[in-house]
Amino acid sequence: MKKRLKLGIIGGGPGSWIGHVHRIASRFDDEFEIVAGVFSRNLKINQKFASKLGINKDRCYKNFKELCLKEIKRKDSIDVVSVMTPPGSHQEISALFIKNKIHVISDKPFAGNLFQAKKLYKTIKKNKKIVYGLTHNYSAYPMVRQAKKIIKDKRIGNIEYINVEYVQDWTNGKKITYSNAKKIFKWKLESKYAGISTVLNEIGSHAFHLAYYITGLKGQELFSQITQYSNKIKFDTNAQVFVNYENDAKGLFWISTNAKGGIHGLKIRVFGTKGSLEWTQNDPNYLVYSNISGATKKLDRAYNESLYSKKFSRIKFGHPEGYLSAFSNLYREISHKIKDKKRYKNYLFPNEDDGLITAKYIDACVKSSKKKRWVKINA
Ligand SMILES: NC(=O)c1ccc[n+]([C@@H]2O[C@H](COP(=O)([O-])OP(=O)(O)OC[C@H]3O[C@@H](n4cnc5c(N)ncnc54)[C@H](O)[C@@H]3O)[C@@H](O)[C@H]2O)c1
Repeated sequence: MKKRLKLGIIGGGPGSWIGHVHRIASRFDDEFEIVAGVFSRNLKINQKFASKLGINKDRCYKNFKELCLKEIKRKDSIDVVSVMTPPGSHQEISALFIKNKIHVISDKPFAGNLFQAKKLYKTIKKNKKIVYGLTHNYSAYPMVRQAKKIIKDKRIGNIEYINVEYVQDWTNGKKITYSNAKKIFKWKLESKYAGISTVLNEIGSHAFHLAYYITGLKGQELFSQITQYSNKIKFDTNAQVFVNYENDAKGLFWISTNAKGGIHGLKIRVFGTKGSLEWTQNDPNYLVYSNISGATKKLDRAYNESLYSKKFSRIKFGHPEGYLSAFSNLYREISHKIKDKKRYKNYLFPNEDDGLITAKYIDACVKSSKKKRWVKINA
């Protein structure tokens, strides 16, 4: 019989955005079984939710520390934990499990700030037997992987320009006032939970990561302008960023949670000496490939010229697939790696290296915006 990994969950309680996505993704390929959890800091909510999920009473814990310390004493202890709490707690929670030899799957950002990110990175590197996976889920879309391959094969030549737009509208159609802001934005208003910068930790991390993941290029220095929601409602909500990459490539990022009517839009364009690629998350089954002869092709997922993307696809070409199956790709890849570390040496899911790099971008953005000058991206 197939061995399922025993999974514990921290966070993702009732009403949480990403909790049910992790639970679906972990079950998609039948690679995991959810056996333990702490779904909320409120004990009553936690217990009620755990019982709804069918978790045994004795494996619904008061907090992540109790979960870790009691689980490792069990014969049937969890193999891996998924962390989906707000960013400020990612480092502390992940580090405890890693030190206790439990594999970790964490949602982004890697940590709340660069200090925490460096600390967590060290802990992971010290515990070599532990697998750490970071759910930058856009990296697992079939046509994003296809784009990565096209760039690796030099089909668009040397990269000259990268342009990423990740804009959202967090107002949810409401007029935001000082009195309703806390109800609408919740922990995203408090740096203790949201970390160094709300807009950059929440979606900027994805934008920087996607550009790095597809192109493999590292930024050297950047100039950023970050604006806050308002004088009274203080949290970072919009960022424009120029990046100078190695190889002289130039990057331009617009990241916003305040693009009214922009609901949700992630788009990346990469231009090289021989052509360009464009991928939009709202139309994820296609990749636009143009070359300098003027020919533009819309490549279909898992079909003919994009056969490489078939590996990461779940259904036949022509049928739409998206967010949940891409997220599940990460869970499947992490499971394979945990089960057979040697065989899956060259895995494609993001890990601590990706996490530290994005934390460096975010830290540099905050410094640049404060100092109003170009700053080096922490080497
Ligand atoms: N990968 C993605 O596409 C994606 C999308 C959305 C959010 N996220 C990330 O997921 C994380 C959570 O975001 P969200 O929007 O789901 O938040 P949320 O506020 O909707 O949900 C957070 C959940 O965690 C619980 N929680 C908080 N602290 C806890 C603790 N110490 N122990 C146990 N439970 C705790 C809360 O009760 C709540 O149920 C953030 O890091 C966010 O950046 C990722």
